[in-house]
Amino acid sequence: MTAQRQVPNHIAIVMDGNGRWATRRFLPRVAGHKKGVDALRACVRHCGDIGVKVLTVFAFSSENWNRPAEEVSGLMELLAMALSREVPQLHKEGVRIHFVGDRSSLSEKVRHGLAQAEQVTAGNTRLAFNICFNYGGRWDIAQAAAGLAARGEAITEASLDRAMALNHVPDPDLLIRTGGEMRISNFLLWQAAYTELYFSDKLWPEFDAAAIDAAIADYAGRERRFGRTSAQLSGGDRRKKAA
Ligand code: FPP
Repeated sequence: MTAQRQVPNHIAIVMDGNGRWATRRFLPRVAGHKKGVDALRACVRHCGDIGVKVLTVFAFSSENWNRPAEEVSGLMELLAMALSREVPQLHKEGVRIHFVGDRSSLSEKVRHGLAQAEQVTAGNTRLAFNICFNYGGRWDIAQAAAGLAARGEAITEASLDRAMALNHVPDPDLLIRTGGEMRISNFLLWQAAYTELYFSDKLWPEFDAAAIDAAIADYAGRERRFGRTSAQLSGGDRRKKAA
């Protein structure tokens, strides 16, 4: 596989298109999210197999509370179900789970499930799997700044970076968005400053291992300059791809 030698260290994904996948089949939207969990399971496995070290997905945004109540409760139930069903297997596969987002408005049951999943998998090192749930990039920047202010610390790029919810992993190398829309939608606003973006028309439930490989092959052909010139990079000053 051509992409194999330049596998990104950290892939982030906006898993869009579950609703359309379901609606096209005359199914309720929640059926699309269920299928989305299947696609996510396969994605985690594939990323682990090909040597990706960090996978971060957008599972529920701060704005998703505005969806119909039935869909919101369906997503909460799905999360609770996925936790009890998937965590033991993910643990066996060496996956460390980390939830990123504002937990204060989640139910006690869901919060307990998140903490359990993190605790059980805390010692795993094969793949760090960050699930952004009730997350927003602006929320993250604001909570980081508020934390620094409350502790009387200076607000600098470095201190904010350390206070951000994803401070346990390096910034993403590749951000994939499925479902045909070309925007970031409040995902990883701080961390995606130099991330390569890849947009796919495929709906998330259809985004399989071959589609991940195609995104990685595209990424492998990019020149990451981090603000430098192309000539600087070819003169041996090239910043190593984080693979
Ligand atoms: C966007 O599709 C997707 C979501 C808002 C939810 C993503 C969740 C999953 C893939 C399942 C994993 C979730 C848990 C709880 C572990 P959309 O509904 O906006 O699709 P549309 O644009 O076609 O309407």
